Amino acid sequence: MGSAKSYRIAVVGGDGIGPEVIAEGLKVIKAAGITLDTSDYDLGGARYVKDGTVLPDDVLDEWRSFDAIYLGAVGTPAVPPGLIERGLLLKMRFELDLYVNLRPFKKAGEHPHDFVVIRENTEGAYAGEGGFLRKGTPHEIATQGSVNTRMGAERAIRFGFELAMRRNKHLTLVHKTNVLTFSGDLWERAFNEVALEYPEVTTAYNHVDAACIYFVQDPQRYDVVVTDNLFGDILTDLGGAVSGGIGLAASANLNPTRNGPSMFEPVHGSAPDIAGQQKANPIAAILSGAMMLDFLGESAAAERITAACDACSEMIGSTSEIGDAVSAHL
Ligand code: IPM
Ligand code: MN
Repeated sequence: MGSAKSYRIAVVGGDGIGPEVIAEGLKVIKAAGITLDTSDYDLGGARYVKDGTVLPDDVLDEWRSFDAIYLGAVGTPAVPPGLIERGLLLKMRFELDLYVNLRPFKKAGEHPHDFVVIRENTEGAYAGEGGFLRKGTPHEIATQGSVNTRMGAERAIRFGFELAMRRNKHLTLVHKTNVLTFSGDLWERAFNEVALEYPEVTTAYNHVDAACIYFVQDPQRYDVVVTDNLFGDILTDLGGAVSGGIGLAASANLNPTRNGPSMFEPVHGSAPDIAGQQKANPIAAILSGAMMLDFLGESAAAERITAACDACSEMIGSTSEIGDAVSAHL
């Protein structure tokens, strides 16, 4: 069944395998009967090499009136590491206030299980607080702060409780309160106070190092997990690794207030070594497209795409063959 609505989507294929996997995502969305009004943006490492452009403010402002942003991957070996990541990806997350990074995981096999990590996406160690003193001397000092606001922690935590209410009513906070006695304390107090508003949700707490063991040995204990930006970055790579690989890991960078677009991207990077060879698995990008549809209110199409991806998750084939197979499964 086609939808009558059309959505304005900014598409950033980006670098490496990004454009290939996004093409499959758009193909599958179309096959699901959803009409997107797409605008392509040539941004990423390759564009930077061409003319020095990373993410101009006028582009960012243009995006504010879009319904969503669909991004493949950015980064190329020709550009110093971090430049595009900070100038494009993190700038998007911060400037568009995409404060929830939602990363769902699904374990197939004998004990199928799915769980989701909410990573705070605008603060913590990513805020860029810090600096050098006496740089380049033997007495050099580097500090890198972690910025934690009560508002920032609380809104991510609140999203966690809301999501838990719609799922299995269980939420785990992951932090390192035994060592990070300031930020951990703020997060723990915010968590415990918001928990009082959701008496139906059972809660748990794990230190991040222990959570790494449980992700591998006992992921069944998790349904919804909420954590800070850096712990969430690391933990979600592990989540991908223990649930079918990074080729299946999708993500949504959400502005839950909806006063601007949210951004949807696979967790994987640009994989320049296999770019342009139709070797990349497009499932993570296709699933990210499904998350985009779900957030736009097209939950039926999102569910059909997700089910089709599940059916094709073990398939071996070229990037476009996998996209075709998912489309055929709808
Ligand atoms: C991710 C990535 C980014 C991050 C990098 C590319 C800056 O690893 O989306 O998880 O650290 O957030
Ligand atoms: Mn990461």
